[in-house]
Amino acid sequence: MKITVLSLFPEMFPTILNESIIKRAKENNLIEFEIINFRDFSTNKHHTVDDTPYGGGAGMVLSVEPIYNALLSIKGYESALKILLTPQGKTYKQAIAKELATNDHIILICGHYEGFDERVREYIDLELSIGDYVLTGGEIAALAIIDSVVRLLPGVLGSKESYEKDSFYEDSLDYPQYTKPREFNGLKVPEVLLSGNHKKIAEWREEMKIKRTKERRPDLHKKTNQN
Ligand code: ADE
Repeated sequence: MKITVLSLFPEMFPTILNESIIKRAKENNLIEFEIINFRDFSTNKHHTVDDTPYGGGAGMVLSVEPIYNALLSIKGYESALKILLTPQGKTYKQAIAKELATNDHIILICGHYEGFDERVREYIDLELSIGDYVLTGGEIAALAIIDSVVRLLPGVLGSKESYEKDSFYEDSLDYPQYTKPREFNGLKVPEVLLSGNHKKIAEWREEMKIKRTKERRPDLHKKTNQN
């Protein structure tokens, strides 16, 4: 898979993309990144990418030309899934991550300032928000999307199980996990996990998943119709 990012702050990406699981996925050629500064596609001599809004008002608006020109410069851009990151987009969920992970090439467009010239939306396929809050730009949203998509690519995680038991995988939250020591400050690991009875352990985990989802995310619980 290839992920292209259009951003005015390309330096925000390497640290996260060069660590841990994403780094390994890159080294194993499971993912390729291309980070483009769309300021390089400005059409004026001052290299500006924004301007004052028609009709007046505070702040600056990102112009359509640099973004359009940057898109045209991307090899295979026509067939790539082009995604605009804004607080007005569809709320990003694990189900969307799974869908994105099936694409060969996605392009993430990060905004800044007061938003995009509305005409940018003519050239994209999807608009996503990572939640109902406003970030200073789309970069952190792009990184959250990249991280959640890359770990779903075949071969990236050790075994299929590593993401099939994730929270949200089947619209439920994960069960509680414990590791050594058996007791910490009087807090004990549940007996069943020490029993060696795999059937009982699986049943307990399933029960805990349902209980946790019901308590913490009644919306998800209702959706999957568990008791
Ligand atoms: N840009 C600013 N806020 C955002 C959000 N919540 N999601 C995606 N992109 C954004």
